[in-house]
Amino acid sequence: MTSRFFKCLFCSCLLASFLIAFPRAVKAATFENPAGIPPRLASDWIHAAIEAGRTIYSGTIVDRLASTNTLHASEHWENENTLMLPAQFLSQSAKISNERGIGMRYRLMSPWPINKRNAPGSRTLETGFQKVMENPEQPFTWVVQTGGHWYFQAIYPDLAVNDSCVSCHNNHPESPKKDFKLGDVMGGILINLPLGVHAAESEPEKHLLPPEVVTDYIHSILESNRTVYSKFIVDRLQMNKVIFASEYWWAENALPLPAQFLLSASQLIHKRRQDLDFRLVSLWPINPQNGPSNEFERRGLESVAVHPIRPFIGRMRLGGKQYFQAVYPDLAVAPSCAHCHGSLVRTLP
Ligand code: HEC
Ligand code: HEC
Repeated sequence: MTSRFFKCLFCSCLLASFLIAFPRAVKAATFENPAGIPPRLASDWIHAAIEAGRTIYSGTIVDRLASTNTLHASEHWENENTLMLPAQFLSQSAKISNERGIGMRYRLMSPWPINKRNAPGSRTLETGFQKVMENPEQPFTWVVQTGGHWYFQAIYPDLAVNDSCVSCHNNHPESPKKDFKLGDVMGGILINLPLGVHAAESEPEKHLLPPEVVTDYIHSILESNRTVYSKFIVDRLQMNKVIFASEYWWAENALPLPAQFLLSASQLIHKRRQDLDFRLVSLWPINPQNGPSNEFERRGLESVAVHPIRPFIGRMRLGGKQYFQAVYPDLAVAPSCAHCHGSLVRTLP
């Protein structure tokens, strides 16, 4: 079954939007100037989306399955029928997103990398990292001009949040640093946003990004996480009969469904910030709660089903504030999508 067929079958869509319109609908930027988003705010949202995927993968998948002794994560996951490490999940996802060539790029890095490809690679990034170490409460941000183009860059600290971060890195034969402690900055997430040739020469950090460009960036992260999770975790491990995905993953010691992975990330973001939200919606949902909850969402779903390369965007005023939202098509990125939905959906539209 091809992905196109699946898509036509379900017209399922990822709604990434900047608004909080209704309960369970998503998104949200409380920026008063809908004409544009300051790069620092855009990069905070991008980081929130990356961090949500990293947290759900580490906590809900890796830590939970390790604690029940069901399945472990290992560096050589491809040969060992295991889960990939959280750092590898982030890097795989960044690779997919970066290769789309949409402008925004991100990666995990550290001055003490186990994998040399994660080294800063430039004097500027080393200096930026130094600043993060001095003040780990804040990301360090700056603006650079390269080849005539302006870029906004930010490094967000990546902390040793549990003992396993420390013990695995300190004991890894390739680790150049052996004395990490709990709470230390172990590395950082680097986000790079192109501002263009004409970013205001004097204060490029005040250059505003179009909201639809920022939703493209956030969507790219969500879709990349979704692809890595569906393909390299769910499909691979199911095919090799190691573990399966189930709607009742908690009770069954299983993997959450791809839709539940995204939903968990969205709930986490919702808890952490009130100005950004996303959710999965479909015109023919398995779960009725995933149906369109307003006219904008219905029109968006219908539109992307017909024009799949163009997100459906709109603005709305709510509580005296302007919000921006966008609906993107959700593709069947792995064979199991069509397989499972095909067996669950009985009546076709
Ligand atoms: C079981 C071992 C293990 C655990 C647990 C682990 N890591 Fe790693 N980490 C690695 C390996 C191996 C790499 C290199 C992955 C690659 O090939 O890119 C890595 C990569 C990284 C990097 C990128 C720089 C580098 O070293 O290549 C950071 C930052 C990082 N880990 C932080 C963490 C944090 C924070 C935690 C805890 C939340 C953690 N790691 C848990 C093994 C581990
Ligand atoms: C093992 C079965 C299974 C697999 C694999 C699976 N899904 Fe689902 N999917 C479900 C179930 C069950 C729901 C309803 C979850 C809920 O309660 O919100 C769902 C929900 C969804 C939704 C929200 C609308 C709805 O139908 O409720 C979309 C969109 C979706 N899936 C697309 C996909 C895509 C794309 C993939 C592959 C990346 C995929 N699914 C893989 C079973 C599956």
